[in-house]
Amino acid sequence: MTIPTLTSEGLAGLAGAVPAGVPDELTLARLAGEFFAALPTGLAGPLAASLPGAASTPAPEIVPPGNVGPTLTAAAPVAPVQVESAPVDHAAAAGRPGGGALGVPEAYAAALPTFSPPASAPPLAPSTPYYFLGEAGAAQSAPQALGAAPTVENRVVPQSFGLPGEAELHQILAELGGDRRSAAAAQPGNAPGQFYFLDTAGVHNRDADVPVVPASAHPAFDVHAVRRDFPILQERVNGRQLIWLDNAATTHKPQSVIDRLAYFYQHENSNIHRAAHELAARATDAYEGARSKVARFIGASSTEEIIFVRGATEGINLVAKTWGWQNVGEGDEIIVSNLEHHANIVPWQQLAAAKGAKLKVIPVDDTGQVLLDEYRKLLTSRTKIVSVTQVSNALGTVVPVKEIVAMAHQAGALAVVDGAQSVSHMRVNVQDIDADFFIFSGHKVFAPTGIGAVYGKRAILEDMPPWQGGGNMIADVTFEKTIYHGPPTRFEAGTGNIADAVGLGAAIDYVERIGMENIARYEHDLLVYTTRALLTVPGLKLIGTAKEKASVSSFVLDGYRPDEVGRALNEEGIAVRSGHHCAQPILRRFGQEATVRPSLAFYNTCEEIDTLVAVLHRLARGKGRIGR
Ligand code: ALA
Repeated sequence: MTIPTLTSEGLAGLAGAVPAGVPDELTLARLAGEFFAALPTGLAGPLAASLPGAASTPAPEIVPPGNVGPTLTAAAPVAPVQVESAPVDHAAAAGRPGGGALGVPEAYAAALPTFSPPASAPPLAPSTPYYFLGEAGAAQSAPQALGAAPTVENRVVPQSFGLPGEAELHQILAELGGDRRSAAAAQPGNAPGQFYFLDTAGVHNRDADVPVVPASAHPAFDVHAVRRDFPILQERVNGRQLIWLDNAATTHKPQSVIDRLAYFYQHENSNIHRAAHELAARATDAYEGARSKVARFIGASSTEEIIFVRGATEGINLVAKTWGWQNVGEGDEIIVSNLEHHANIVPWQQLAAAKGAKLKVIPVDDTGQVLLDEYRKLLTSRTKIVSVTQVSNALGTVVPVKEIVAMAHQAGALAVVDGAQSVSHMRVNVQDIDADFFIFSGHKVFAPTGIGAVYGKRAILEDMPPWQGGGNMIADVTFEKTIYHGPPTRFEAGTGNIADAVGLGAAIDYVERIGMENIARYEHDLLVYTTRALLTVPGLKLIGTAKEKASVSSFVLDGYRPDEVGRALNEEGIAVRSGHHCAQPILRRFGQEATVRPSLAFYNTCEEIDTLVAVLHRLARGKGRIGR
């Protein structure tokens, strides 16, 4: 089969005579349309359909073999491309505070095209002041200088955010006029109006008969201003505006991160550490600048303690397959908790199997919190390493990692903290936690996928063998011997994910501009609101009711499989994860194979939770799809 190529001869062959001289745009578009129409079915793509001269019958839908994902409806014809004659700052034009230069290095930002709104346009809104003062009266914390002693966070720490337990919530509900959930359960088909809203930010109270829990005392966080920074939140799904409650799986990206990636490829793209030319310098500066931002973000004492990896899974594997391979032997012990994600179980299991070591598991109580006394009993002189999550992705439990690390150290073991689910929800300071390794993924903290970081204490990294060998990580190579670089370069073989590391730096800039303390406060209130609202749904059982929780509300609903609930929510444009959340052991601890898991980020709102809960009420009453 010969596929025609788009040359002027090819076009002439397809279209007959090409007009003399330079063809105008319309002629070119028509010829291109005819060219695409001549391609074998399925190769042309949707662009062809939009061009003049294209065949009028649409190409048949191509169903890839083995496709198990949701089927999307055929794409609408693509509108003709509009070419702008002058550079426009789309971000500023869209009214986003800060415009397109957010996150771009200042030296390069100066070179960005400027946007002057037409005289008739309304003035752009000033940056929204969505910061509020912390309890000690301090504004959002200034970035901590590298090498400085860890800051004691006296304003907001996760432990100050105890959620009311289920019993306390029922008490609250009872005090508000009776446990309306029980009342609803007693009267199937009861009318709406069973929710108890925490009026977190002076938000709405949709139903007139809804009792309102008093508003919290701190100043409002302007979630609507924040939402304008995330273009995807305007997306429509099944005819509804997207409600993204799958933040534990991945978070969305603010425009500043999207712009930063584009800026990198437009102005800085080069390999790094390898050349004397200008773009190599720009790219290296941007990449190493991102490393400094990561170090500061998690309170490391030096950039040399930060290794870029693909994500938390690769980070844990790196530690297990370097430090672990070197230091764990037959009869040694490795401890994880019952809460762990598979990424913090499987690499240790593999290590234990290879070395003849033993994997021990810290149990949890019925709320999903780790039992420190049981953990104490597991520690022995054979314990080499303890690896725990800071926040459970399946239940949302905030684990007391500082205590766990201290106890590991007392036993002579090292401690790894999996921060994949924590860094986007609370201030983390690795020096304060005293973790030997701390690992997180960028995509869970508003950065691109494919980038994450391992923090390791410098002295420990110095003694660790490399994991992968190749370019960049070596100081000198002969056929007899290779001398490796020191950390972190020793652990970054080959060309890394340069642009996405830069994107991670921009994401960190973004969350630091909002302030982690502000994020933690807002999300805490939203989680309390969500918990209370979910508990009003008849037949809904929360899985994981620890006092210290972040972001996640896992549940099961009587009469429905979790995937059925997930699908029903999707019909309403609501995205949650339903399944085992890559954490089968902890779900089985609670007698479940799967749950429904809404998970929050700071751009979620009480209104979104209302919609979620309204759908669940409708499901609980067996009435199926609701309107909204
Ligand atoms: N670890 C991610 C989750 O919890 C994918 O959904």
